Amino acid sequence: MYDFKPDQTLDTAERYRQLVDAADALTSGEPDPVANMANVAALIWEFVPDLNWAGFYRVGTNAEGVDELVLGPFVGRPACIRIPIGAGVCGAAAKSGETQLVEDVHAFPGHIACDAASRSELVVPVSREGKVVAVIDLDSPNPARFTEADARGLEALAEVLSARI
Ligand code: SME
Repeated sequence: MYDFKPDQTLDTAERYRQLVDAADALTSGEPDPVANMANVAALIWEFVPDLNWAGFYRVGTNAEGVDELVLGPFVGRPACIRIPIGAGVCGAAAKSGETQLVEDVHAFPGHIACDAASRSELVVPVSREGKVVAVIDLDSPNPARFTEADARGLEALAEVLSARI
């Protein structure tokens, strides 16, 4: 049994440090990317409060051989399966290779609403050898839920996962 439980009194930075350590321990030595993404989505759900969706989109190809984002393991309601690179918050992160911290999803041009409850969103790219291979997407029902501390913490997680998903 794995029993990774965050201490509720931790500040955000320390909470993410513990999340990254737990993710590192759970994925170390496991070559299956789906297993690793599934466990990390569950860990994020345990460690990060006030979320309604947490999970992965991977860069894959469509029938025409064009790159796009494809839904990966997640916790939350069923979501959009395929997102063009450059579309929505996830597509913007994949295209730019940069973290997208969105305080109000309704104000983000082209935001893709998979769950009408989502009000704010944080998307961090996962890169390998300089190329974006996936994004980690967090949604919250609370407006302006995510801070720079969340962004830095999730980026540290993306770094650990780079070669494991
Ligand atoms: N809102 C995202 C789509 C994915 S869902 O939030 C799970 C976007 O605009 O890219």
